[in-house]
Amino acid sequence: MRVAVLGTGIMGAPIARNLAAAGHEVRAWNRSADKAQALADDGVEPAGDIAGAVRGADVVITMLADAPAVEAVAGEALAAMDGAVLVQLSTIGPEATARVAEQAKAAGVPFVDAPVLGTKQPAEQGKLSVLASGPEDVRDRVQPLFDVIGAKTQWLGEAGAGSRLKLVLNTWLLALTEGLAEAIALAEALDVDPQTFLDTIDGGPMGAPYANLKGKLMMEGDFPPSFPLELALKDGRLALAAAAEQGLRLGALEAIVEQMNRAVEAGHGRADMAATIHASRA
Ligand SMILES: NC(=O)c1ccc[n+]([C@@H]2O[C@H](COP(=O)([O-])OP(=O)(O)OC[C@H]3O[C@@H](n4cnc5c(N)ncnc54)[C@H](OP(=O)(O)O)[C@@H]3O)[C@@H](O)[C@H]2O)c1
Repeated sequence: MRVAVLGTGIMGAPIARNLAAAGHEVRAWNRSADKAQALADDGVEPAGDIAGAVRGADVVITMLADAPAVEAVAGEALAAMDGAVLVQLSTIGPEATARVAEQAKAAGVPFVDAPVLGTKQPAEQGKLSVLASGPEDVRDRVQPLFDVIGAKTQWLGEAGAGSRLKLVLNTWLLALTEGLAEAIALAEALDVDPQTFLDTIDGGPMGAPYANLKGKLMMEGDFPPSFPLELALKDGRLALAAAAEQGLRLGALEAIVEQMNRAVEAGHGRADMAATIHASRA
């Protein structure tokens, strides 16, 4: 298939690379052109502009930071698409997803909402979990691409269902990460070896592979970005907004967003989300 990938950051770059390696004809566009250029050696053709990337494509993928980026880029892409499906992989929440679905409808373009679960390494390994939703008649067209980028695809219903599940998952993820950060910060303050805490929960019902993974980063103070903290904060805010829309108040998530915001304001926004521990250390 001819595929355009718009946005080649932490997630978009390996997705484009894997699609090209699987034999698809991939063109990529990125706001900072150097990131798309860097994919040329991996069989991905860099495009200088959005229209050039999407022209002649069968499927156009967006993998961008947030809703404003997706709405702006999709708007430009839709105007140049002819017969392609728009597949939106970024995490932008249900409200913005509904707006992009409207943009696509107005342009006569089928729209698939497909945020992904999994971070940098699963993206590199083609092992993401794809939370797909959209019209039944285009599912067979996009499934071969999902089979390349993901280990699993769930078709969840009409467009928007994927984005709703994604916010539920990230509410859990943020709670897990912040809980871990505070347990480790408390261990440090009480002169308890944080590794002893991790060893104690390991393998039991309170343990989680994620605790070992992110706990190591927190203890070592080294935060190479898999999932940048500023994007985790964005997702916390999206979940709070979606909850408020339903008359629901999520007090713990509000506090987590506050903590993450403090760490972002202290300059850790581009570090991995595990860097939220900075807000809990005295
Ligand atoms: N990383 C993860 O673990 C993970 C996992 C699941 C889902 N996600 C979601 O996937 C999306 C992408 O995440 P990522 O980790 O790949 O982020 P990233 O590395 O920060 O990449 C963000 C991308 O968005 C582009 N961008 C930002 N603002 C833009 C704008 N106004 N106009 C055009 N392009 C813009 C950036 O372009 P520049 O290069 O020019 O800045 C870059 O290509 C996000 O919605 C994120 O929440 C991430």
